[in-house]
Amino acid sequence: MTAPPLGGENIVRYASELIGATPLLELVRTGSGSRLLLKLEQFNPTGSAKVRMAREMVLRAEHSGELAPGGHIVEPTSGNTGTGLALIALERGYTFTAVVDDHAAKDKLRAMKAMGARLVTVDSDGRGGPSSVRRRNIAAEIAATSGAYQPDQHNNPHNNAGYRDLAAELRKDLATDIDYLVGAVGTGGSLCGTVEELRRLGSGVCAIGVEPAGSIIFGGDPGPYRQTGAGSPAGFPVGRNVKYEVIDEDFRVGDIEAFATARVAARRTGILIGGTAGAAVHVALRRLVRFPAGSTVVVLVCDAGEKYLDSVYDEDWLVARGLYDRATEQRIVRLFRAYDESLRLAALDLERTGA
Ligand SMILES: Cc1ncc(COP(=O)(O)O)c(C=O)c1O
Repeated sequence: MTAPPLGGENIVRYASELIGATPLLELVRTGSGSRLLLKLEQFNPTGSAKVRMAREMVLRAEHSGELAPGGHIVEPTSGNTGTGLALIALERGYTFTAVVDDHAAKDKLRAMKAMGARLVTVDSDGRGGPSSVRRRNIAAEIAATSGAYQPDQHNNPHNNAGYRDLAAELRKDLATDIDYLVGAVGTGGSLCGTVEELRRLGSGVCAIGVEPAGSIIFGGDPGPYRQTGAGSPAGFPVGRNVKYEVIDEDFRVGDIEAFATARVAARRTGILIGGTAGAAVHVALRRLVRFPAGSTVVVLVCDAGEKYLDSVYDEDWLVARGLYDRATEQRIVRLFRAYDESLRLAALDLERTGA
């Protein structure tokens, strides 16, 4: 027996070289030929889409001279931008300080620490919501007193530009145009950046933005929410990277629906998605039946559910906060089943007509 030939070397030297080329997973197919696909951004190093923009912002700051060799980066973060910056900082020889609060998922804080980041924790808002204003003020103070570089992800244009490759990947991995792109909106970078680039490449995509109920980005009533990363609490100025002119439709999703959708999707696929992705999938699932036959719908999954085993995927945690509702989960299960049934009936129809 001859030994199989040796392959060429396929090794990377830096974790950041693993950014991108994330997979597309078909979550639902309908009898009318529509597909709901998940762009699984948790397959990036750091388990989130946001490492794409963290790299772009740092490289551009190096280029412009705002960030000198051996410099210091400081940024307020709910955790995913922070883990992205922590990775790029360690690879390129910077120190990184993340300004965080206890609204953040614990595992994101642990991950930043594990990568050598310094954490400055501000008081929570007392209701379990994010302390975005306080986080931003403290980060600005640190930047002003220490001379550290603050990327300012809410207004830095290189946040949105960091998703150019994501758009190109979607074009490469699909034989058709994307009809609808659905994403949770925080800074706006991932949805608006991807949509702008898709359109520049010739796509006629319709962009659907999703925020937690209680967030004020699209003008809803303010209130507390437990989805982390997306949304803007009352009093926090929406930054320039939310490009309202780029977003065609917007929806608000409550924590119960968002988390229930993530949990049901996990039982269906074995892939755990984060709570904000649960909200985006919730909107896509509900709307799918109303989209024209044969639509291609892509949901941006910002991060992995493994970051939320202590919350979204912990029934005790949900129950203690009034966020567990069996009836909501059952409704979502029935929605999935209805699409499966429409597919089965369409296949039977095809068999009968011999088409
Ligand atoms: C889990 C999660 N979902 C959604 C978002 C929103 O993404 P963007 O800031 O690109 O709008 C973020 C941003 O940090 C996030 O961490």
